[in-house]
Amino acid sequence: MTPATTTLSPSLAPPATLSLAALAAVTRDLADRPDLWRRLVRFDRGERWWTRLEGPPGTDVWLLSWLRSQGTELHDHGESGAAFTVVVGTLTETRPDPQGRLVPLKLRVGQAQTVEPGAIHDVVNDHAEPAVSIHAYSPRLERMTYYTRAAGRITATHTVLTHEPEQEPGR
Ligand SMILES: [Fe+2]
Repeated sequence: MTPATTTLSPSLAPPATLSLAALAAVTRDLADRPDLWRRLVRFDRGERWWTRLEGPPGTDVWLLSWLRSQGTELHDHGESGAAFTVVVGTLTETRPDPQGRLVPLKLRVGQAQTVEPGAIHDVVNDHAEPAVSIHAYSPRLERMTYYTRAAGRITATHTVLTHEPEQEPGR
């Protein structure tokens, strides 16, 4: 008779959450393998384009393209940590400092950025040249909260349940 057990087999165990460093490594490794993503890239003037890439278990990995002025709103990724690497062009990431001031950071080809769970940021292509980036999230993205800034205060506006990348403003 087989003894009862509560141990999950490896195939049923939930995937481990990747550290921010591991997520950054995922996006850097893919950035170094353009054969895995370059032929997939599309640009869409009407809506920021994205597609899913294969990633480690328990992650969401996306390839995103950004034409001039395409971007996100201030948002967080809920319980998910994130990382992204710019593979074409330049992106500007903005984060609020402790005083609520928005601080921009230029990210160029090859540069990776990590985003802690719950951290608020915004990403935009404010250059004429198109940009492309590779993003990874762990645990898999389940919800995002969006924010607005007025009179130096960052205020949450709404939370969405989602398994897709950040929405553009007004969508
Ligand atoms: Fe984000």
